[in-house]
Amino acid sequence: MNILDLSCVNDIRNISRLIFKKGWGEANGGNISIRIPADEINLCKNQFVRGDEVKLPYTMPGIAGEYFLVTGTGVFFRHIYDSPEESLGIVQLNETGDAYTPVWGYTTGGRPTSELSSHLLSHEVRKEISNGQNRIILHTHATNLIAMSFVLPLKAEIVTRELWEMMSECLVLFPEGVGVLDWMMPGKSEIGYATAELMKAHRLVLWAHHGIFAAGVSMDQAFGLIETADKAAEMLLKVMAAGGKQQAISAEQLQQLADAFNVVPLKEALY
Ligand code: 13P
Ligand code: ZN
Repeated sequence: MNILDLSCVNDIRNISRLIFKKGWGEANGGNISIRIPADEINLCKNQFVRGDEVKLPYTMPGIAGEYFLVTGTGVFFRHIYDSPEESLGIVQLNETGDAYTPVWGYTTGGRPTSELSSHLLSHEVRKEISNGQNRIILHTHATNLIAMSFVLPLKAEIVTRELWEMMSECLVLFPEGVGVLDWMMPGKSEIGYATAELMKAHRLVLWAHHGIFAAGVSMDQAFGLIETADKAAEMLLKVMAAGGKQQAISAEQLQQLADAFNVVPLKEALY
């Protein structure tokens, strides 16, 4: 099977075009990774061209030996659809989970995203928590969520509650709430550790003044979480610009929603 025909390659090509159209993927802003199932990657190994192993400053036994499709650093989102072999690559972690080897893609000498730490460390956490179901990590510069991070206190329970109040389906889609990180230097292991820590409890992690990370079982689910949270953030900003809330869904009504949809809401956000 041609690697370009893998569903994960199609997923990244299509979603990156959509993200660019949304205005969230300016220049090289954002990055995506997908953990590739063994049965899919096994069909393509004949096309591998193994590069040099790259050592990592951390060890991830939970995803050792796994293959990941990862956007390249510096890649413009608007080019990914038309240039998948230059824009994307597949890397394999070694058997101890502390180094990776590129095995396909990055044909013009590229390498994985500068946010690889946040992606891989989050994959390790989410794989365990979801019993292997979560395979997508998506980072994008969602406009309204970034803007919101300038006007709300950077606390998970407050950000979560404000988003939940804007639209009924927010609580249903992300009952565990949104994890929030204060501004940190991008592209470093430290932001990766901090993101992965919050991914233990949340599939959405807001990077203040920067963007958002989402985890999901599919690209639709990860993207759906972000587009819903971003729409709620857009409405919050409009409500604030219009003079602030006069009324909203109450804590009691939010609990009723949770009961009706059989989800367990982040209790700190039901103040
Ligand atoms: P990369 O081009 O290295 O993926 O970085 C983009 C980005 O969004 C950094 O946070
Ligand atoms: Zn970014």
